[in-house]
Amino acid sequence: MTLLARHMPKVLIINASARHDGETARTIDYIFGAMKDKKNTSIINLYEKDVRHYNYDNHHQDDDFLPIMDQILQSDVVVFATPVYWYSMSGRLKTFFDRFSDIIMEHKTIGRALKDKKCYLIANGYDINMPEDFQKPIQSTCQYFQMAYKGAFYYSVGQHQAVIDENECRKNAAEFGKQIYQD
Ligand SMILES: Cc1cc2nc3c(=O)[nH]c(=O)nc-3n(C[C@H](O)[C@H](O)[C@H](O)COP(=O)(O)O)c2cc1C
Repeated sequence: MTLLARHMPKVLIINASARHDGETARTIDYIFGAMKDKKNTSIINLYEKDVRHYNYDNHHQDDDFLPIMDQILQSDVVVFATPVYWYSMSGRLKTFFDRFSDIIMEHKTIGRALKDKKCYLIANGYDINMPEDFQKPIQSTCQYFQMAYKGAFYYSVGQHQAVIDENECRKNAAEFGKQIYQD
């Protein structure tokens, strides 16, 4: 069956970089290519959003967290794209994940509706490899909400030409992207 004949999943990419046009955006381009401009695929740049830190009073009803959650609920697949900042996910992504506490306390129906959504992680950093256990928090969070964690793709932006074949990396990125629509 061709890709077009299948049900095309709705894919939401959340870019958690500290800039909207940096290496994370470039990595998203390598993975999604022209797919990212299709109707069934959208990108949210957390950099442009107002997602405030979690607090124990859940006093954030008016920021962008719930509208973003609504977009996740309207999608089949959510892709978190983050740079590696100090061996971990970006602060913006961590702040976003902390707010998941709101959807288990205050907005429980949203938390429950995450069940069975597919989730992928895209990371990019200077080092050749993704830091050990980098996926763990995302993987465990998916498990908590009974989402299907489908895996990660890491793109190294460092100057490692001696050991990395750039063309091969881009080919692998495009393959990973294709897989997201076929899984
Ligand atoms: C605050 C900060 C911390 C970083 N920490 C790491 C790190 O721990 N490991 C790594 O491989 N690269 C690290 N880098 C490099 C970035 O991951 C890399 O340049 C990435 O491609 C940046 O993506 P962006 O342009 O979307 O921010 C760091 C960069 C910044 C700005």
